[in-house]
Amino acid sequence: MLLRKRLPGDHPKVIQLLESAGLPPDGLEHTDGWVVESEGFLVGHVAVEFTPEVAVLRSLIVHPSQRGKGLGERLMTEAEAQAGARAFVLKTDTAGPWMERRGYQKTTLDHVPASVRSTTQFSGQLCSGTPIYLKENTMDFDTLKAAVRERYAGFVKQNTSCCGPISKGCGCSSTLEDPSLKIGYEIQDVKAVPDGANLGLGCGNPVALASLKPGEIVLDLGSGAGFDAFLASKRVGSQGRVIGVDMTPEMIARARSLADRHGYANVEFRQGDIEQLPVEDAMVDAIISNCVLNLTTDKAQAFREAFRVMKPGGRLMVSDLVLLKPLPAIIRQDLDAYAACMAGALLKDDYLAAIHAAGFAQVEVVGESSFDIGDTMASEVEAAQRRNPAITAADLKAAAEAVVSLQIQAIKPLQAASQTTDLMSPSVKELVAIGAAIASNCEPCFKYHYDAARKLGVSKEDMREAVNVALAVKATPHRKVVEAADRLLTLTNPDTPAEIEGCACGSGNCS
Ligand SMILES: C[S@@+](CC[C@H](N)C(=O)[O-])C[C@H]1O[C@@H](n2cnc3c(N)ncnc32)[C@H](O)[C@@H]1O
Repeated sequence: MLLRKRLPGDHPKVIQLLESAGLPPDGLEHTDGWVVESEGFLVGHVAVEFTPEVAVLRSLIVHPSQRGKGLGERLMTEAEAQAGARAFVLKTDTAGPWMERRGYQKTTLDHVPASVRSTTQFSGQLCSGTPIYLKENTMDFDTLKAAVRERYAGFVKQNTSCCGPISKGCGCSSTLEDPSLKIGYEIQDVKAVPDGANLGLGCGNPVALASLKPGEIVLDLGSGAGFDAFLASKRVGSQGRVIGVDMTPEMIARARSLADRHGYANVEFRQGDIEQLPVEDAMVDAIISNCVLNLTTDKAQAFREAFRVMKPGGRLMVSDLVLLKPLPAIIRQDLDAYAACMAGALLKDDYLAAIHAAGFAQVEVVGESSFDIGDTMASEVEAAQRRNPAITAADLKAAAEAVVSLQIQAIKPLQAASQTTDLMSPSVKELVAIGAAIASNCEPCFKYHYDAARKLGVSKEDMREAVNVALAVKATPHRKVVEAADRLLTLTNPDTPAEIEGCACGSGNCS
């Protein structure tokens, strides 16, 4: 069986197939279509007509000799995969129960975007009782993020280590005793971290690429239970600092508790989305990430955020899964395949382009390896077919062949600093404002700027330092400060008291 896009030459056979089932063939030329071929015969067809808001599914037909083989399901999935963020709409008198089992809801014309009336299926006279079935796009961002969170929370709850490509998580295979050794870690790395930190979810070893130096600040995007963050913490030493960010609360809780119990004083875990990093501008020397970016719903935004928080001259080291060719539609639409780092992966060139577009330079692929699911294939097929009987072994094989693990490095160019006209980042401004609030005894101002700084991800440690500086300033007799300022700046009126007038709050919120 071959499922492929409909070609103009297929039209006579499609019309014959539709007419044999009493379905009207008119308006096909306004649709995109897909056909199934078997031994030279055309045995199935589906078409989609688009408006900006809806994708109208129509002309779904499977030849009677081929029914019961999941062809209808495959055609539907192919059609649905084309709809992007649009709602799917269908008019049917006979297939209602089947559509409802697929997650469609029965509705009326009044509840469907008006543009549907411009399509061939819905033009002209339609009685208001015509059964219409509607499905909002289930691959919306919130659904995807929820699926990812649920999947990775599960690894913590079950204390599972290692994973397969779809039925489990990202990355590793089960052939080695410790799969981490297969993706670039040394046995001493595995032994160096607390038990429970390495959940076997990575697809490379970004720390090995990172040439981290003592004293550096490192950010781990999607830090999971902390494996790479703990390894990085040893490289940067007590003068350095590691921040891990992850959106799954269970991952953060596990990582924090390991850091506490094992005395990792230079590691901090923040819960948040890497598409909106809770980290201040130009703060970190190096960013690492292991099998995470493919899970984000807006990769370009995630790379822009990485660029924002990196110091000029900083380095990005990413291990991730990308595609060498598009995935079969049925896999692209599979939530489990998304959460398993497959369905959300970008084509390799698009991925590299997104890193460039964010502003990074010297973007370099330093490693590429195929994604071996050979020994887990049978269980993958079984698990996938339990979710969706239409997924075949061939679909999974095609998907596995499309996916590779990439190791990428890039830098933030130094001149990025000179592109900015404002030398104070929003976080630094808030720290200054906190100091000013303390120095001027303005409690509402302090609370306001404290909240603003927290939202920007400024650490309590930095805020304490700002407060201490302000207290030291307050404790210093004015005369001495003014004399110092006079010495350094040659003030015109050295008698002006160096007091901070009023409140530093620029928002007008502090009265
Ligand atoms: C495949 S695991 C990798 C974990 C870790 N890097 C490792 O190698 O063990 C992916 C992690 O990314 C996190 N994640 C996925 N999307 C995210 C997002 N948009 N923001 C923050 N974390 C995210 C998940 O919660 C999960 O912990």
